[in-house]
Amino acid sequence: MSECGCLVGRPVMEVESRYVAVRHHVEGFPSEEDFKVKTGRLRWRPESGEVLVRNLYLSMDPYQLNRMKRRSPSHVAVDGIVPGERITAYGAGKVVASACAEYKEGDVVAGLLGWEDYTLVPAGPRAGTSGITAYDGFFEVCKPQRGEKVFVSAASGSVGSLVGQFAKLASCYVVGCAGSNAKVDLLKNELGFDDAFNYKEEPDMKSALKRYFPDGIDIYFDNVGGKTLEAALASMNTHGRVALCGAISEYTDAGHRASPDLLEVIYKRIAIRGFVIWEFLTRFSEFTGIISDWICQGKVQPIEDVSNGLESVPSAFTALFLGLNIGKKLVKLA
Ligand SMILES: NC(=O)c1ccc[n+]([C@@H]2O[C@H](COP(=O)([O-])OP(=O)(O)OC[C@H]3O[C@@H](n4cnc5c(N)ncnc54)[C@H](OP(=O)(O)O)[C@@H]3O)[C@@H](O)[C@H]2O)c1
Repeated sequence: MSECGCLVGRPVMEVESRYVAVRHHVEGFPSEEDFKVKTGRLRWRPESGEVLVRNLYLSMDPYQLNRMKRRSPSHVAVDGIVPGERITAYGAGKVVASACAEYKEGDVVAGLLGWEDYTLVPAGPRAGTSGITAYDGFFEVCKPQRGEKVFVSAASGSVGSLVGQFAKLASCYVVGCAGSNAKVDLLKNELGFDDAFNYKEEPDMKSALKRYFPDGIDIYFDNVGGKTLEAALASMNTHGRVALCGAISEYTDAGHRASPDLLEVIYKRIAIRGFVIWEFLTRFSEFTGIISDWICQGKVQPIEDVSNGLESVPSAFTALFLGLNIGKKLVKLA
C-alpha cells in the first residue's frame, strides 16, 4: 500500500489488489479453468466519498453463476458479469481508508464487496447475507403456522440449514433433503430436523415425498427447482405455500426446467412466490438483532465451510454445484 499524494489535507492511497475474473461467459457447469486471478491497482481519494476495504471473508453464492451467463433472466435484477472484469460479491472486511462519515479506519463492515483483496466501496448502504434470505423467505413468504409440515431442499446448505432451524423455532414439522448421508446425519442429529433423506438415493422423488409426508406438505422452501419442485408440488396440501428461493439444479442445466402439473396448483390453490432478498433489506437491522439473540441463546446453529486464500475462490465456487460444501461457503482472505 502506498501514499502518493495529498488532497484536502489527506493523502491519496493506492493499493495493489488481486481479483478473480471469469475468462469467458460460463453457460453450463462451472470449472476452475473458467477463472483466472488478475492484479490491478486501486486508488482511494479523500474527496471521492468512497471507503477502501481490505476484504477478510468472501461469500460464495450460487446466483453468481447466472451473472456469468451471456443471457439470464436474473440480469434484470443484478448485472451480468463481464469477462476479465472484477466480480462484485458479498463479504466482510476492514476499513483501511474512509471518506464517508459513517465509517472510520479499523471498522469491520459487511456488505457488497468483491472477489478481490481490496474493494473501493461507493458511499451509501450496501448490505446482505444468506441469513436474511432464509429468515424473510421463510417467515414473510411462507407465513408458517404452528404444526405445519415443511419441506426444504438443499437443506444442509447456507440458506436451507437456517430455514430448517427456523421452521423448528416456529413449531413446524420439518424434513430436509440433501446430497449425502453425512449431510443427512447433520440435519437429523445436530440441526434438529424431524427427518431428512439423501435425494441421490431416491430415484423416484414423488414417492419419497409421499413417504416422508403421508399427510402432505404445507410449505415447500425451494432451493433447487427442477424435478424436486415438480415432486413437491405433487405432495402439497390445499392452500400450501411454495417459496421459490433458488433453482440451483437449473443453473447448470437449462434443459431440465421444472414443468409442474398446473392443475395441482390450481385445484389445491397453492401459492407459489419467487422472491429476491433485496426486497427485504430494509429489515436488515431487525433481522440482525433477532438472529444474534437466537445464536447467543443456542437456538440457531450457523454452519460455515471456509476455504483459504483468494486463489481458492474458483474451487470454492465450483464446490457449490458439486455439493461439496456443508453450510455457508466462505473464502478467508486475511
Ligand atoms: N432468492 C434469493 O434472494 C436468494 C438468496 C440467496 C440464495 N438463493 C438461492 O438459494 C439456493 C441455496 O443457496 P445457498 O447459498 O444456500 O447455497 P448452498 O445451499 O449452501 O450450496 C448449494 C447446494 O446446492 C445443492 N445442489 C447443487 N447442485 C444441485 C442439484 N443439481 N440438485 C440439487 N441440489 C443441488 C448442493 O447440496 P446437496 O449436496 O444437497 O446437493 C450444494 O451444496 C440457491 O439456489 C441460491 O441461488 C436465493
